Amino acid sequence: MHNGQGSAKKRRLADEDDELSEVQPDAVPPEVREWLASTFTRQLGPTRRKSDEKPKFKSVAHAIRAGIFVDRIYRRVNHTALMQFPPEVVKVLKTLDDWSFDVFALHESTQGQPIKFLSYDLLNRYGILHKFKMVPATLENFLLRIEEGYCKYKNPYHNNLHATDVTQTVHYMLCKTGLMNWLTDLEIFATLIAALIHDFEHTGTTNNFHVMSGTEAALLYNDRAVLENHHISASFRLLKEDDCNILQNLSREEYREFRTLVIDMVLATDMSFHFQQLKNMRNLLTLAEPSVDKSKALSLVLHCCDISHPAKKWELHYRWTTSLLEEFFRQGDKERELGLPFSPLCDRNNIMIAESQIGFIDFIVDPSMTVCSDMLEVILAPEKPPVGKERENENTPAFSLVKPWVVSLAENKKHWKEKAVTEAVQKKQNEDVKVDVPTTKAE
Ligand code: CMP
Ligand code: MG
Ligand code: ZN
Repeated sequence: MHNGQGSAKKRRLADEDDELSEVQPDAVPPEVREWLASTFTRQLGPTRRKSDEKPKFKSVAHAIRAGIFVDRIYRRVNHTALMQFPPEVVKVLKTLDDWSFDVFALHESTQGQPIKFLSYDLLNRYGILHKFKMVPATLENFLLRIEEGYCKYKNPYHNNLHATDVTQTVHYMLCKTGLMNWLTDLEIFATLIAALIHDFEHTGTTNNFHVMSGTEAALLYNDRAVLENHHISASFRLLKEDDCNILQNLSREEYREFRTLVIDMVLATDMSFHFQQLKNMRNLLTLAEPSVDKSKALSLVLHCCDISHPAKKWELHYRWTTSLLEEFFRQGDKERELGLPFSPLCDRNNIMIAESQIGFIDFIVDPSMTVCSDMLEVILAPEKPPVGKERENENTPAFSLVKPWVVSLAENKKHWKEKAVTEAVQKKQNEDVKVDVPTTKAE
């Protein structure tokens, strides 16, 4: 549903400005501020519909049972999986429940097919393969085609590894926080598939590039969420092919619900929706009895997993950052060729890497993880205890999550701060050289 009212739109944009100015200390260089403003706020776009679905209330016992459930399913994998898992792949997949799972090791052990093995294993572990009567060969075909789509443009960052990383992180959120117990099988299925396809056939260029250079996709999607619309549309097109249709045994109602959920989740990975998404959730959580919409909750989880690498171990985060920046620089090279202005962070000869990453952590990733944790604590808190059995201390949270990302975020920021010092010295030296050059030439 569209809310085309100008005043509502203005109010929303003003909200986003507020968000950015609230978190904007003077220390942030103007380049980083410009990047944050242009990437994480939006100028246009429909208002998302409100769902009146009430969340179901679940207890901590479910979280405990979750461990047993996943373990039971996992044992079944070894006995009944139809696809063969080489021993070196099985070895890596043993650590699948870790926050800092080494997706690069999985890539090596699967000889470049991490999507295929990880997704097959997950769909089996959660019992989805069985529940929705998937034909194993069809699932294999589908996963192969998804993997191929991610390799189409040979992107340094937006490739099959990133899709695997985000899917594994979503799995962590589902299984380690107990979120899976709040969800139906169909919702778990939709969440895993949304994570898997969320950047399908990514072109290695940003939405801004598509719009500015007027690509086919920008024309097709009228400059709105160009990439996200493509990821979804191309994936559902693939799912219509008989030998890839893993949804063939879903009922009409199940299919509709699945499709709506996947569309909502993937559209919400558009970064220009970031501040609004966070603000909406924060506001909701301030209510006395917040009722969190499933689609909104899952969209926030997927968005957080999508930007979670700065919250993983330094070695992983640094590798992801280097890959992403190389992708941005390649876009910058294209922009130069086309005579377009450089998009933020895309000029390989003029960038402050460490500063931009500190900005990304402070203003984007850290607040996202905080809101997401708060939301999960609300959703997953046990039911109010009966009168007389209230918590001893009102300040004690009803339910507290384990948050491995907190430590990594702090550590990674420390690393970048050290690098920022070197970067500043380097920048100064370069500027001094630039000042010297014209004098030399003139002589
Ligand atoms: P995408 O994966 O489509 O959605 C999340 C976006 O966050 C990602 O594309 C990048 O545009 C952006 N992003 C992820 N990591 C970083 C980072 N380290 N620095 C800047 N932007 C990032
Ligand atoms: Mg994306
Ligand atoms: Zn992504």
